[in-house]
Amino acid sequence: MLLKIITLPGDGIGPEVTGEAIRVLEATAESFGHQLTLTEKPIGGAALQLHNHPLPDDTLESCRSAGAVLLGAVGGPAFNDVPTHLRPEAGLLRLRHELGVFANLRPAVCYSALEDVSPLRPEVVRGVDLLIVRELLGGLYFGQPRSTTGPPGDRTAIDTMRYSEAEIERIARVAFDLARLRRRHVTSVDKANVLDCSRLWREVVIRVSREYPDVQLAHLYVDSAAMALVSRPPSMDVLLTENMFGDILSDQAGSIVGSIGMLPSASVGGRVALYEPVHGSAPDIARQGIANPLGAILSAAMMLRHSFNLPAEAACIEASVASVLDAGYRTKDIAQPGRSTISTAQMGEKVLEAVQNRARIGDRMAV
Ligand code: IPM
Ligand code: MG
Repeated sequence: MLLKIITLPGDGIGPEVTGEAIRVLEATAESFGHQLTLTEKPIGGAALQLHNHPLPDDTLESCRSAGAVLLGAVGGPAFNDVPTHLRPEAGLLRLRHELGVFANLRPAVCYSALEDVSPLRPEVVRGVDLLIVRELLGGLYFGQPRSTTGPPGDRTAIDTMRYSEAEIERIARVAFDLARLRRRHVTSVDKANVLDCSRLWREVVIRVSREYPDVQLAHLYVDSAAMALVSRPPSMDVLLTENMFGDILSDQAGSIVGSIGMLPSASVGGRVALYEPVHGSAPDIARQGIANPLGAILSAAMMLRHSFNLPAEAACIEASVASVLDAGYRTKDIAQPGRSTISTAQMGEKVLEAVQNRARIGDRMAV
């Protein structure tokens, strides 16, 4: 099979982790007999510096005609003072919008090897396997009007939270469909005691849920969901959220399973899907070779499964990550104090070797 992938390394640790995900993808493609074409394009601050725009036309066009897009991260303190529409984040948001990827899937799994790395007690995080289904193209991120007006010292800023029934309905369907492939439980997150958007959200989610009598539905206010996520995380199956609540809760979920560096994501629902680790550009550790590439590597696995329908290849990468963790290899973010650590590139190498070994063993078993 020919896999046509656009890579967008972006800023900060983005290029480092994307580089390792690419190496693992190449090894996987070779082991399973697929052909890979990888084309790198600039996005975010890197694109701003090169082309004065965080999402150059050429990058967008290339993504539109790709089989899938793999992104590292965007943003950094160097770009804090650029106008809003030129910020690195604006480039990413425009890309999501243009691709139409309204559903952001963020699985958070507690690997048994990392139970003692979580800030929560092992018995609290044991068995965590949840999926945040985050609406990605609505809410405060895209609502109009938005502005900052008035003289310095007396300014007013406005952002708008806006959701239509159609937008809520389509993301709810994604959550219920995915719940059917899991433990058949959806927890819908809102702030229906305060927000109109949330009252509409809850009403529409309840309406959609009638089409899924086999899936259990619960509702939590977002503050209570944040609490439940730390007090009883294994009880969570699918968490359905609007855009900003999902952004916040997914970072929290990262910490719960040991490190946000572990979390992958897939943004789907458009013609071309976008895969990116949940973590940001982490400028404080950029170019030190210590970032955790596993979130990016696991995002590549999600890409193989969702965009190219290659579940065995995806499962091979995921099992390889688990075995590398079981063997005790740790980047700094997932190492207990005093334990030895390996670099970003070494972690990529370990996963790559595990993928090759697994593919070889698979071959022998098939013979
Ligand atoms: C994320 C990030 C982005 C978001 C930023 C970089 C725009 O935090 O993917 O979680 O808020 O969606
Ligand atoms: Mg975020």
